[in-house]
Amino acid sequence: MRNKLNIGLFGFGCVGNGLYEVLNQSNLLDATIKKIVVKNPNKARSIAKENFSYAKSDILLDNEINLVVELIDDSRAAFLIVSEALKRGKHVVTANKKMIAENYEELLNLAKANNLSLLYEASVGGSIPIIRNLEEYYNNDSLSGIQGIVNGTTNYILTQTNSGKDYETALAEAQELGFAESDPTLDVDGFDSKYKLLILIKHAFGLTLKPDDIFNYGIRNIKTQDVKYAAEKGFRIKLFSRTEKFGNHLAGFVAPHFIKEDNVAYNVNNEFNSVSVEALFSDKQLFLGKGAGAYPTASAVLSDVSALQYDYAYEYKKTNENEVLNFTDDFYLKIYIGSEFIEAIQEIPFYNIDEIFQSKAYNFQTGWVKFSELKQFNFNNLSNLFFAVLPEPFLNESDFENIAGEKLFLQVFN
Ligand code: HSE
Repeated sequence: MRNKLNIGLFGFGCVGNGLYEVLNQSNLLDATIKKIVVKNPNKARSIAKENFSYAKSDILLDNEINLVVELIDDSRAAFLIVSEALKRGKHVVTANKKMIAENYEELLNLAKANNLSLLYEASVGGSIPIIRNLEEYYNNDSLSGIQGIVNGTTNYILTQTNSGKDYETALAEAQELGFAESDPTLDVDGFDSKYKLLILIKHAFGLTLKPDDIFNYGIRNIKTQDVKYAAEKGFRIKLFSRTEKFGNHLAGFVAPHFIKEDNVAYNVNNEFNSVSVEALFSDKQLFLGKGAGAYPTASAVLSDVSALQYDYAYEYKKTNENEVLNFTDDFYLKIYIGSEFIEAIQEIPFYNIDEIFQSKAYNFQTGWVKFSELKQFNFNNLSNLFFAVLPEPFLNESDFENIAGEKLFLQVFN
């Protein structure tokens, strides 16, 4: 039996507008938007003013509305709306990754206590149905890692700068196309990718982390010399949200990666996102699709609305499994680091240096660092440095000892 859904929609920005159009074009659903609440009465919108109201209570106190679709920008205001909706017996569909990441436990408890669904497929990877796949499909196939390009804005900027465009122009275009957050710092410094990684970790591995648990470093400080180094080596630069399991430990962080052609994400460009999932039996699988923009994001919201017609709810099966995983910072990774200043590079503790290049204009170094030490630096604020993870597996202490003492290749140009 399909449930008839009366929707109260909060927000009519890029995604809200997209949902309105997509819902009007889809006659497969028994769902109608009964009310739309927006904040600003004076903003020009694509549909007539009579369609809007401005008081949250118009939706929250309407007993006929059984589903709140929350698509506003402000995560604090969104949390108040969503928690109130759940307390008032309404299911919720949201795309607000920041709100979920910051209030995960409380939101899940509220949904559970009230026996309601809280669905958020659109919060990660736009149109890619990754949450439902992690939730439903991999239950019996032990997951070992995820590498995701889950931010369309930064992938757009990296693709465009790789073809010679300057950073500011590429960012302005990403904003114009409706990919970027209102505060694009969230995109370019890797916060948005971190919130999404936190959600992926919850569904893939059952851990409920806090945003501060996960290190995030973005692409703001990338220099043309770094792009040139990557191109000379045949690398492309991708901002990865990455998590890997070692025994009963789980590592996870957001950082730029230099990847080779053999990486499935190599040709994922512009606003496309990809999530590569690795599992014991199925091995590597790639999910690919548009990760930002009105219609791709609205399509995931629509899919959640459709699932609610059949009472779908996440079960959080991995959270309920007995395996206890510890989130760890104890591993080594191989990085590239570049700077105009040799001293800035020398501040970073390296355990094994592979390559050093020094010149008057630019310097770089590659080698192995301990992640727990690396994460002590606030790299987003260190404009003189850029680092990227190189394509080598993470190593634990004993594996690292086996590779220590490899040769050092030094080039000095004065
Ligand atoms: N700012 C986000 C992005 C929007 O660029 O991916 C989609 O979550």
